[in-house]
Amino acid sequence: MSGSRKIYLGTNTKMYKNIRQTVDFVTRLETLTKDIPRDGLELFVIPSYTTLAAARKSVPETDILIGAQNMCWEDQGQFTGEISPLMLEEVGVNLVMIGHSERRHVFRENDAEENRKVLAALKHGFVPLLCVGETGEEKEYGIAEEVIRTQLKVGFRGVPAEQAGKVMVAYEPVWAIGVNGKPASEDYAEKIHALIHRTLAEQFGREQGEKIPVLYGGSVNDGNAEKLIVMPHIDGLFIGRSAWDADHFNSIIRKVMPLFFQKSGTEGD
Ligand code: 13P
Repeated sequence: MSGSRKIYLGTNTKMYKNIRQTVDFVTRLETLTKDIPRDGLELFVIPSYTTLAAARKSVPETDILIGAQNMCWEDQGQFTGEISPLMLEEVGVNLVMIGHSERRHVFRENDAEENRKVLAALKHGFVPLLCVGETGEEKEYGIAEEVIRTQLKVGFRGVPAEQAGKVMVAYEPVWAIGVNGKPASEDYAEKIHALIHRTLAEQFGREQGEKIPVLYGGSVNDGNAEKLIVMPHIDGLFIGRSAWDADHFNSIIRKVMPLFFQKSGTEGD
């Protein structure tokens, strides 16, 4: 296991929620979770670009980190339609999601591009949340492990070991995500999380590699969150649909936190 004493719980609101809906959501989530000590919980929300400035202003970053769903690797230039790290700095974003499966598969981003974004995010002081995961076809061919190792090795290429403590990973099997997704079983997720932790230890050395939290995402819901979080190598959950209602997200947070700390043998407060 990673030895992490903090649970990581976050949501990506994808291309849903306008400014008002996002502000209502983060404000309600902050109110509902205010009593939970943040030394045991890293809570984050990744809304759409147009909502970032308002979202960041409406809740303190000590309670909820706000992330962008993507970012260009260049500071400025002839990149029509892209958002630069400088623009994200201006709105006070804390983290940047890189290589979400919808970016990789709908918009054809590749590992080398994700790597440039990871390096740019670190350069600008954002936490890069690198998403990895195999497609259903790759799983059927029995090459899930090769695919994920490649995504990690290329995605984090050139990241110095001393910066490893500043990155996060989400394992999101493509076949598990979204309305047509089928959640991974806890045993399958655990097997892949163990592989991810091993690969990170190989890349950054054991001590530094162990600092990287690895979250599971893909059809996490009320029914499977508890089974997933008790697995030894799962450090948190990255949730889509089941977290878009703040009250529902809060109830998942309250269910999984005690189980996580029992597993880690530590108290959350
Ligand atoms: P769902 O939980 O809706 O499957 O989405 C997961 C996801 O893509 C988070 O980034």
